[in-house]
Amino acid sequence: MQAAAELNAVQFTDLFKNIVGETYVFADAESLNNYAHDETENLHFIPDIVIKPRTTKEISQIMALCNKHKIPVTPRGAGTGLSGGALPQLGGVLLSMERMNSIIEIDERNLQVTTEPGVITEVLQNAVKEKGLFYPPDPSSRGSCFIGGNIAENSGGPKAVKYGVVKDYVLNLEIVLPTGEIMWTGANVLKNSTGYNLTQLIVGSEGTLAIVTKIVLKLLPHPKYDLLMLVPFNNLANAGAAVSAIFRAGFTPSAMELVEINALKIVSKFVDSAVVPVTDEMEAHLIIEVDGNHMETLMAEMEAIAELLVQFECGDVFFADDAQQKAELWKLRRRVAEAVKIDGYTIEEDTVVPRAELPALITGVKTLGKQYGFDVVCYGHAGDGNLHIRIKKPGSIYSLNNPDVIPALQALFKLVKSLGGTISGEHGIGLIQKPYMDIVFDEAGLQLMRGIKKVFDPNNILNSGKIFDMV
Ligand code: LAC
Ligand code: ZN
Repeated sequence: MQAAAELNAVQFTDLFKNIVGETYVFADAESLNNYAHDETENLHFIPDIVIKPRTTKEISQIMALCNKHKIPVTPRGAGTGLSGGALPQLGGVLLSMERMNSIIEIDERNLQVTTEPGVITEVLQNAVKEKGLFYPPDPSSRGSCFIGGNIAENSGGPKAVKYGVVKDYVLNLEIVLPTGEIMWTGANVLKNSTGYNLTQLIVGSEGTLAIVTKIVLKLLPHPKYDLLMLVPFNNLANAGAAVSAIFRAGFTPSAMELVEINALKIVSKFVDSAVVPVTDEMEAHLIIEVDGNHMETLMAEMEAIAELLVQFECGDVFFADDAQQKAELWKLRRRVAEAVKIDGYTIEEDTVVPRAELPALITGVKTLGKQYGFDVVCYGHAGDGNLHIRIKKPGSIYSLNNPDVIPALQALFKLVKSLGGTISGEHGIGLIQKPYMDIVFDEAGLQLMRGIKKVFDPNNILNSGKIFDMV
């Protein structure tokens, strides 16, 4: 059962204005349109009203009102999501967290930061870096995404391979429950065996259980140096196989990314970059970064990795010499998703398999592409076994409920499951992967999730219809 609004949110406009102030409640067509989409395919759902609260207390009052009248609420960060988590597909209230954008405290004694959710991830990273501290999770959209959205999706990014994903840094959260209660989920400590781990239950719950209003993150000392190289391979599966060989040989790069040649060609044109040598004969490239505090060790590591890769038929290694070349190379990598989407590869999947299964996944994906008549490009976080698969099929614009695409995605996810993997590594299930949850979870698992949702959100008003349906 989805939340059915008894009354339209617009009827409560005056009450919402009383809570957040006249100027932060919007119902004009332009504002509603601005919040009707995220970065997922070409999906578009118009909310009834957009509210931009500034404080936890305001959010609590909004939730209490919406809960009482069973009005659907969709929380939203920066709208950079790739699974439709912030889409208001039931209308109702769109709750934008953009004004909750203060970094509250950087605790240099304990290596922690307390922040509001509407802070841009890169802004937070730069603020702690100024104090010599490091917040590693770095999704490609870090220049525009919010830390709150990263928590909702348990985001990753290139550095996850060495440093872990968002969940590994979240110590404590202030949340507002759908009923309007305000609470903290844990304590600002590095170890915590006190009861159920509510903090980690909220991380990755895609805004379906509670609204995160304050975040306490663990930080690390910032590594002094990093080195970056680009390695071409004339065979895609070889590039995949090289990835696990590097780890088996005892190296832990701080990034280990894979970009297939078609994706690299598209993005090179898109960002107009001449830095990276791109030749048609090479099927794939690995971007490999090492970081640490001792330059000599890093240089020796890079050389040893490059030597190891020769047996996988790699081409000439390109070492990014200076900060500018590194930035250019990272820009190419970070903008692949945007570039290939504009090129028509609108359907994106976020598969993840145990690292050593990556070559089998890549080969399987290509076979499925031929079988179902899709063009496919692959790129992503090869070191994590997390492969982003972009699909283009003439005549198909998006995957949600598209009969043309569903059988192919089912086959893809069954392949992923058979390799010991799952359907999302870092983008979440949201709206678009929901129909496929039963491939990776049996009924008992889905019922447990529904039960948890019901305890948090008895009226099913908060981001209802995301991850799973209640029936
Ligand atoms: C990336 C995003 C799409 O890896 O996750 O570029
Ligand atoms: Zn990614």
